[in-house]
Amino acid sequence: MSGHGFLILDFGSQVTQLIARRLREMGYYSEIKHFGYPTEEIKKSNYDGIILSGGPHSVYQEGAPYRSIKELVGIAPIMGICYGMQLICHDLGGKVESAKSREYGFKTVTWSKSPFVDGVMSQPVWMSHGDVVVSVPQGYQVIAETDDHPAAMEKDLVFAVQFHPEVVHTQRGDEILNYFIGKTKAKKNWQVDDFLKSIQDRVLAEVGTQQNILCALSGGVDSSVLAVMLTRIFGKERVYCVFVNNGLLRKNEYEKVIQSYESLGLNLHPVDASESFLQSLAGISDPEKKRKTVGRVFIDVFDAAVKKIQADDHVEIHFLAQGTLYPDVIESVSTTGSSVTIKSHHNVGGLPEKLNFKLLEPFRMLFKDEVRQLGKALKLSDELINRHPFPGPGLSIRVIGEVTAEKLAILKEADAIYIDYLKEKGLYEKIWQAFCVLTPVQTVGVMGDGRTYDSVLAVRAVTASDGMTADWFEFHTRDLREISSRITNKVKGVSRVVYDITSKPPATIEWE
Ligand code: XMP
Repeated sequence: MSGHGFLILDFGSQVTQLIARRLREMGYYSEIKHFGYPTEEIKKSNYDGIILSGGPHSVYQEGAPYRSIKELVGIAPIMGICYGMQLICHDLGGKVESAKSREYGFKTVTWSKSPFVDGVMSQPVWMSHGDVVVSVPQGYQVIAETDDHPAAMEKDLVFAVQFHPEVVHTQRGDEILNYFIGKTKAKKNWQVDDFLKSIQDRVLAEVGTQQNILCALSGGVDSSVLAVMLTRIFGKERVYCVFVNNGLLRKNEYEKVIQSYESLGLNLHPVDASESFLQSLAGISDPEKKRKTVGRVFIDVFDAAVKKIQADDHVEIHFLAQGTLYPDVIESVSTTGSSVTIKSHHNVGGLPEKLNFKLLEPFRMLFKDEVRQLGKALKLSDELINRHPFPGPGLSIRVIGEVTAEKLAILKEADAIYIDYLKEKGLYEKIWQAFCVLTPVQTVGVMGDGRTYDSVLAVRAVTASDGMTADWFEFHTRDLREISSRITNKVKGVSRVVYDITSKPPATIEWE
């Protein structure tokens, strides 16, 4: 009988999440736990297979993350990846040493036993390690090698590779994971209908038949899918949706989003608080102060809106639903120590404490692409599902320096022209996020026969898979030319357009 999908034990690799994502994309449930997750719990959960992730340490060093492999063997089939392979060797009597030359980047491995159905024996893979296996444990067979080291080994239901099949740079990585899956009894159990059903069952059990729910909508994909799903489950009488206009949304976005929410049948309570936000932001130039101000005003506005709903409709609200995603809840092994705060991100953080509701987080186990799949299954429009991420503090962090109504108006116009252009040319969906930034720099221009002295507008477009790292998008020069000309011709107040060619790191995606 098949079991509970795959357990991934995290030894601190930067790409552990990708293992879970690949398996889920292939249709198998998978979850990530700290490498020290108790053996008793593992046994109880009846996993189909256990995968040991990579990690930045050396297995033979004092203090390196360790768990007994002997204890795991026999519970379920095991796959080791990079550090995972080294740990299996180290714990079962093989030998791991520091490599004379680090194996980093692309390497060719040659299989003596091909994991592929077509029998291919050699392939490029992606490696990143400073240690190598010099001898495998007794009874293990080396089934792939690089020029000088074992690159894969197996024995019965244990299989390990020195490279990373989960990253896209490794060719046919999915098939290598599939080779391991073939050793297990796993059955595909993670298609969109499966996870929709499992989420619905869980939410129904948690909320019961009497209690009411509040959703804070942002116009973005996570909160929209969440509100629609909950409304379909509990009916609009029990799911109250508040959507706040902070005046920092894109051009006409408040009106457009209200329309699409209404057509989705939500019990919508829109609140236009643009004036309060703008007044509170007056005189503030510091990015962190802007973020904090928007967050504080949001909580006050939201709080007042909820009190009004409760009074007007004579209802009690029990839950606040939030679109928290899996990457925010994974208890990963930190390899960098405590990280510094680059920016204080604001969503609806702080609301639960203030409002004293129970938290409902149905998407805690989902990745963003899975939320998008749910959105599709719930028949949300492509426009809503494929919308670029948009920060909670909105355009306030895209007007550099003090935010004023005039500057916001210029930014909204320019941004709308830019985004329309991307949609017109089919570029929008190739880009993770695109937006304009109004800088506080003024420069001289010439229009007609007159001199202008107007603002410099920066245009940004990045590709990314999760926003943690990003690269600038390589437009054709004809696109840049057209974007610049449309904006400077149509937007009064902009004399010059520049394109941001900085990746993250060292920059961040937003400018503030
Ligand atoms: P940075 O600028 O830190 O942004 O590289 C990474 C991603 O996060 C978005 N972002 C935010 N999202 N609240 C949000 O919900 C925020 O306060 C916030 N600040 C940045 C940013 O747009 C990018 O997608």
